[in-house]
Amino acid sequence: MVIDWTMFYFYSFIISPSRLKFERDKTGKPATDMTPGELSYLALEKALSGRKMDPKKDMFIDLGCGRGKLTFFVAIRYGIRSAGVDLVGTYIKAAQKLANIRKIKTVKFIQKDVINTRFSGQSTIVCLTWTMWTKASRVAVAKQCLSLKKGAWLITTTIPLKHASFESIKTFSAPSSWGSTIVYVHRKVS
Ligand SMILES: C[S@@+](CC[C@H](N)C(=O)[O-])C[C@H]1O[C@@H](n2cnc3c(N)ncnc32)[C@H](O)[C@@H]1O
Repeated sequence: MVIDWTMFYFYSFIISPSRLKFERDKTGKPATDMTPGELSYLALEKALSGRKMDPKKDMFIDLGCGRGKLTFFVAIRYGIRSAGVDLVGTYIKAAQKLANIRKIKTVKFIQKDVINTRFSGQSTIVCLTWTMWTKASRVAVAKQCLSLKKGAWLITTTIPLKHASFESIKTFSAPSSWGSTIVYVHRKVS
């Protein structure tokens, strides 16, 4: 995939790991929250299987998108609008640059703290790779998910979101950059 190769080039030859570490440290967030790692395309595809995508209505958002791989994947694979939010500015700038170079207009990248941002208005599919996040961060972002619209899907890794407003659709084990992980897919029911 052209996106993967361009991303590989950016992160191998242009962006230094020390710059990323500096930015992660500067956020003041717990180091565990800021741990890099990526869910595989295979896992996301399995999570989304069975969902009928409507390019007019559906919008994917990856809360803590890192380099933005999943955001690009969903936009290209399913033809729906797709957004990525992360606190690390370099991830966001590089992903947006990549979108501009490749002329992908259906993706958007935003530098924000997902805990303090209301994101749920238009999002119908939310991804939270929160495996390493502290409980406090998970609770805070889960609160935001409560304002998702009925019918929205929420994908989490390692830890499910237990709340009466969500029902479990599927749970499976899938590859990620940190090894095999459990993926939980929920649907907002009220
Ligand atoms: C494990 S990575 C996941 C990357 C991406 N979701 C994927 O699977 O390819 C978690 C990301 O969450 C970001 N993050 C952690 N806390 C955040 C917060 N409060 N606001 C925005 N981004 C955050 C980190 O910078 C990191 O890039």
